[in-house]
Amino acid sequence: MCVPFVPHPDPEVARGPTSVKRERFSGEPASVAKMDSLVGRKILRFDAVESTNDTAKELLGGDADEGTVIVAERQVAGKGRHGRAWFSPPGGLYCSVVLKPDDKNVSMLNLISGMPVVKALRHWSVLATLKWPNDVVFRNRKIGGVLCEGVYRHDAFWVVAGIGVNTNTPLDRLPTEVRGTATSLKAEAEIEVSNEEFLEYMLRDFDKVYKASQSSARNVLARDYMALCSTIRQRVAVETPQGTVRGTAIEVTTQGALVLIDIAGRRVEVEDGSVRPA
Ligand code: BTN
Repeated sequence: MCVPFVPHPDPEVARGPTSVKRERFSGEPASVAKMDSLVGRKILRFDAVESTNDTAKELLGGDADEGTVIVAERQVAGKGRHGRAWFSPPGGLYCSVVLKPDDKNVSMLNLISGMPVVKALRHWSVLATLKWPNDVVFRNRKIGGVLCEGVYRHDAFWVVAGIGVNTNTPLDRLPTEVRGTATSLKAEAEIEVSNEEFLEYMLRDFDKVYKASQSSARNVLARDYMALCSTIRQRVAVETPQGTVRGTAIEVTTQGALVLIDIAGRRVEVEDGSVRPA
């Protein structure tokens, strides 16, 4: 499903990439940090970029290492799933992780990338869940999301996992059509979390989950994912490129597909789509 780009309501952000590129994004990060694990071994921080996913992909044209993380204070052309925009005013957390998975099947990676977001939100006392595949929700409102993109560098397949979290996002700076269905950690927990601390917590968990996904324990990972996924056991309608599928969600496969039992009692596997309650 493709939703047209809606200009950001904040004129400073809506002015767009040209001014940002000139003033702030010269290809040089504002700071560089390191963590002791694979994911986050190098963290490049920018004031503003068009999209951290695009910056990560540009860096992949050079010599970026696996585990490098790009973080920006704001994005002027943040991207969501299915061609949607991801509104990214200052206050939220916007980052992309550069990965070189063994397996070209990124579906499971696409799912598990949302798990560290849920765990971090729960650490800060917001009992978020995952709506399949990787929408992070709290009380039916969106609080985070993941966009995984595959990239070839020479002959090797890489993945950029982009994560957006409404940590301290001022909800009144989101466009009206999004505002009604979005929330933030700040609004729910009534605290202003440090984005740096949130990122560090989230990346530590990402490192564990990613390493597990590269081992053979896919069934364990699918089970861990389902424990955080509120879509399981729900009656849902899934909009897929092939049409709408209705049924009760019963599990996810080790390939990341959502399994439904439809009205006729048939087992149907859905590989991609947007879920809503039926
Ligand atoms: C979605 O739920 O539609 C996915 C949203 C993903 C947003 C993040 S913010 C950081 C990274 N850069 C982007 O342009 N998008 C992802």
